[in-house]
Amino acid sequence: MNKDKVTLSTLRAMKEQGEPITWLTAYDHPTASVMDAAGIDMILVGDSLGMTVLGFDSTLPVTMDHMVTFTAAVSRGAERAFVVGDMPFLSYQADAADAVRNAGRLMSEGAADAVKLEGGERMAGPIRAITDAGIPVLGHIGLTPQSASQLGGYRAQGRTQEAAEELARDARAIEEAGAVGLLVECVPPAAARQVLDAVDIPVLGLGSGLECDGQLLIVHDMLGLFDRFVPKFVKRYAELGDGMRTAFETYAAEVKAREFPAEEHFYTMSDATKQ
Ligand code: KIV
Repeated sequence: MNKDKVTLSTLRAMKEQGEPITWLTAYDHPTASVMDAAGIDMILVGDSLGMTVLGFDSTLPVTMDHMVTFTAAVSRGAERAFVVGDMPFLSYQADAADAVRNAGRLMSEGAADAVKLEGGERMAGPIRAITDAGIPVLGHIGLTPQSASQLGGYRAQGRTQEAAEELARDARAIEEAGAVGLLVECVPPAAARQVLDAVDIPVLGLGSGLECDGQLLIVHDMLGLFDRFVPKFVKRYAELGDGMRTAFETYAAEVKAREFPAEEHFYTMSDATKQ
């Protein structure tokens, strides 16, 4: 193992020392390699790939086979970063044995360092079963996209004192079931504070304010590659979609004008005749 490899102890130490943990999603080998070289601490192979990469309208059609393939590609590109494989819809909710087998596939075939699943107290059973099988699990509360229909859409959660207290109870139940970390998505900073106060494990935030132990963003959102909807919490760090379009348009124009390939891209005959 790379001696600088981020492990659960690294993440716990960062929390203790108050050093924010950086976390991004990635779904392919080149993106993971660049993130790793940039020093990103954690990579999530999220089932968001259903929307960002596969073009579905939600994450629900994503299968275990998709997740295993994409997780393995990312793991091969991430020498240092801690890789988390996401458990897709219905891969853990129905039955504990199924949950363990599917989490195991993300570890053995996908080479993940941990898995993540959505849901609070109600998911304590699968979290306990997966943990008992020796697999580190992260919980995910707040806006949980697999339950978007039940939540009334992709909307912020924990916006009343009662709802924030429920999130804190969920966080405690997840920690007691053995989770090694927790993602809180799309809740007000005051609700995230109550979650942070409720548990000792690292609490990572996506759209949940500055106080969390680390921050997650979806790579296609932060690079300007996903425009179908842009949540309030997204910051665009680049406009790669615009850059790609310009490159494709320039290429097309040069091919049509017979300007590409140019002479420097040609092979000469002399090399071939020497053989
Ligand atoms: O699938 C994913 O990328 C996620 C984020 C939305 C948190 O779970």
